[in-house]
Amino acid sequence: MEWKDSLISGLQWSEHIINREGKERVAQELAARVKDGEVIGAGSGSTVYLTLFAIAERMRSEKLHVEIIPASMEISMTCIQLGIPQTTLWEKRPDWTFDGADEVDPAHNLIKGRGGAMFKEKLLIKSSERTFIVVDDSKFVSRLGSKFPVPVEVFPTGVVYVEEWLKILGASEVILRMGKGKDGPVLTENGNFILDAWFDSIAEPLEKEIKSITGVIESGLFIGYDIEINAYTI
Ligand code: 5RP
Repeated sequence: MEWKDSLISGLQWSEHIINREGKERVAQELAARVKDGEVIGAGSGSTVYLTLFAIAERMRSEKLHVEIIPASMEISMTCIQLGIPQTTLWEKRPDWTFDGADEVDPAHNLIKGRGGAMFKEKLLIKSSERTFIVVDDSKFVSRLGSKFPVPVEVFPTGVVYVEEWLKILGASEVILRMGKGKDGPVLTENGNFILDAWFDSIAEPLEKEIKSITGVIESGLFIGYDIEINAYTI
């Protein structure tokens, strides 16, 4: 039996999509890579959202069968809306993953996690043989951490302990991310809090150092990953 549902079928992206035209262009390029039978990891964010529309269009017009492993509920609901089958990391390994980013430095290190989904995004990227990161010019920085803080997902009662350790690791400011449309802190999909930590400099070991703090689930630092950057001009 089917739901008379309009919530998921009528779902829209939650905010205005910045640089929508450029993102739609690159979404077409990514969708053109899809091959019949592939399992594809989909990160999160508006670029990923728009790419799913382009993939769904190819699936419809060329009768391709593709399965998506989503990194967030919003991307999972978009797959349902578009009729794209989904699977999990329990069942399948992605042939490749695509995702956006908040900052990319000259060595292709990344900060991700504006959407709070960096834990599952990292799991997908680590599980995939190839990853395509899609960004516009505005995401390139000469120094990681210059425009965005490093998001750190933390077990809720561990935030004070973790804040102290982030400062010992050099964070100049640590902010508890608060919800919009909700009182109190943002809760991640895993029921955790997010600390946004500003660093004046980010050296190679920082990702591992943050991960080693008890109470930290994952950070939005991606240093030294084997990824391909698909850039577009706004
Ligand atoms: C979410 C992310 C996103 O990939 C990043 O914020 C980019 O988003 P957008 O494609 O909307 O610019 O890391 O956790």
